[in-house]
Amino acid sequence: MMYNQPMLRADALKDKTVVITGGGTGLGKAMGTYFLKLGANLVITSRKYDVLEKAADEMENKTGGKVLPLVCDVRDPEQVEKVLHQTIEKFGTPDVLLNNAAGNFISPTERLSANAFSSIIDIVLKGTVNCTLAFGKHWIKEKHSGTVLNIITTYAFTGSAYVVPSACAKGGVLALTRSLAVEWGKYGIRTNAIAPGPFPTKGAWERLLPGDLAKKFDFKNRVPLKRVGEHQELCNLAAFLISDFSGYINGEVISIDGGEWLQGAGQFNGLEAIPAEMWDMLEQITRNAKGS
Ligand code: HXC
Ligand code: NAP
Repeated sequence: MMYNQPMLRADALKDKTVVITGGGTGLGKAMGTYFLKLGANLVITSRKYDVLEKAADEMENKTGGKVLPLVCDVRDPEQVEKVLHQTIEKFGTPDVLLNNAAGNFISPTERLSANAFSSIIDIVLKGTVNCTLAFGKHWIKEKHSGTVLNIITTYAFTGSAYVVPSACAKGGVLALTRSLAVEWGKYGIRTNAIAPGPFPTKGAWERLLPGDLAKKFDFKNRVPLKRVGEHQELCNLAAFLISDFSGYINGEVISIDGGEWLQGAGQFNGLEAIPAEMWDMLEQITRNAKGS
């Protein structure tokens, strides 16, 4: 199987400048590392400079590329503007904004305070809006084409119990993706989204599967392909979507989840539990029902 191998040609992102929010950890760090290998200049942002600085060093040593780590709380439009200007100073006008920063935790909704709900909406939905507005306005003013890639989740379409603020926020980001794809297409700005299924990271697993939950609620069992995602396969998809090779893809959301969300949706999918040897008998019964 080749799914955990790098996919694109070595110059696929040559001379592109990519800004990744939440780029110092988890999936953001993995995607950034791959973009560097494909020739991109990279800016990574989050709230913790020590984490960013360490990640930037590691990424540069691994790839030989250039990484600018910048502290930025996506909830604050002024800090976002500062990132845009520091990026321009270092690398010139950015080409890609990857909205990846997120906050999340599991909780019965009735246990949430108004502030707990807002804290997720502020990071995920309003943070994405703050970044997209700043970068989009700049691209439009400068007549510079650009690409926005938003990392959402599959429960942006289905909703999900126990992560309701995140579901509301990611659903909003999906609406933003499809709306701006149409409105900003005329400026040469493409807007797409990726909806990942389970891709183990420290940040997500600590907040969503704390303690023994990781064993009891094993994601592999929910996925038709019976495995979780490998970071490289998400990186391959993200690199393609921000590269010029996907120049006609605009307003799409691509799920990369091994079929997980559809498994939950199909009314008869539970028949998976029927042992193979029972099917002869069931077929006989259904065939006999013809005349009744
Ligand atoms: C109930 C909680 C809570 C919990 C925090 N709060 N944790 N309420 N249950 N477990 C409440 C607090 O009491 C407070 O409300 C409010 O939320 C804000 O909390 P703070 O700690 O002040 O917020 P902040 O420091 O901004 O931290 C944000 C955070 C934290 C989201 C709470 O977890 C964080 O920094 N996360 C960043 C990384 C992250 O979450 N990564 C996972 C992404 S995974 P009150 O009323 O008390 O003031 C992901 C995957 C999706 O999205 C799909 C996976 C398959
Ligand atoms: P992660 O490592 O916790 O990444 C979240 C990042 O967001 C962190 O670097 C965090 O850094 C940053 N962040 C949080 N609040 C911020 C703020 N206010 N301002 C700026 N940055 C902030 O988790 P991950 O699993 O890699 O998640 C990455 C993305 O994938 C998220 O959008 C998540 O929803 C999505 N996703 C993940 C999975 C999965 O299975 N892992 C599945 C579906 C979707 P600081 O806290 O230091 O600021």
